[in-house]
Amino acid sequence: MSDARFRAFRWSDIPAVTEIYRHYVDETVITFETEAPTEAAMAERFGKLLDLKHPLIIVEQAGNVVGYAYASFYRPRAAYRFTCEDSIYLHKDLVGQGVGARLLDELLVQSRAAGFRQMLAVITAERKNSIRVHEKAGFRFIGHYEALGFKFDRWLDIVHMQKAL
Ligand SMILES: CC(C)(COP(=O)(O)OP(=O)(O)OC[C@H]1O[C@@H](n2cnc3c(N)ncnc32)[C@H](O)[C@@H]1OP(=O)(O)O)[C@@H](O)C(=O)NCCC(=O)NCCS
Repeated sequence: MSDARFRAFRWSDIPAVTEIYRHYVDETVITFETEAPTEAAMAERFGKLLDLKHPLIIVEQAGNVVGYAYASFYRPRAAYRFTCEDSIYLHKDLVGQGVGARLLDELLVQSRAAGFRQMLAVITAERKNSIRVHEKAGFRFIGHYEALGFKFDRWLDIVHMQKAL
């Protein structure tokens, strides 16, 4: 069992979160981004979350930043304003230790408190660990979309899951 703990974001976390995310952009199909964002770009993204008062959680272990999670608007148009999408990125060395489920539970609490009513999870279909973590948190399977992404020379399916908050 990991002793990772959760806390609020600080600007000094930007280099670590940029590095954590870079791995998933460069090496995996978990995110459909293909160019890793710079620290400045990540600071801009996180700044927008703070401005909008959206949930943003940092995972820390032994004084190091080892993951993050946030909820943000599913789509920008106004009628979607009660619907969020989650993003969770644990450092690759922390995967498989059960921290994701705890982190998602905390994100659900904070998303409810922020006024969101529905959470969508948009998951690369082959990522069974992420689907399982969402299932365990009470998300329902909504749909499987074929070949929505193309990365590393192959087509990728997407699964949508949903939970009422
Ligand atoms: C996805 C993520 C949040 C999951 O959190 P985690 O703490 O690593 O989750 P764990 O691997 O400990 O547990 C996941 C569950 O999936 C199961 N699982 C793992 N691999 C699996 C597979 N190939 N098939 C089926 N189930 C699998 C585990 O057994 C566990 O289920 P259990 O609790 O019922 O035993 C985390 O790994 C992460 O941040 N990964 C990188 C980024 C990412 O994928 N983000 C999600 C984007 S939607």
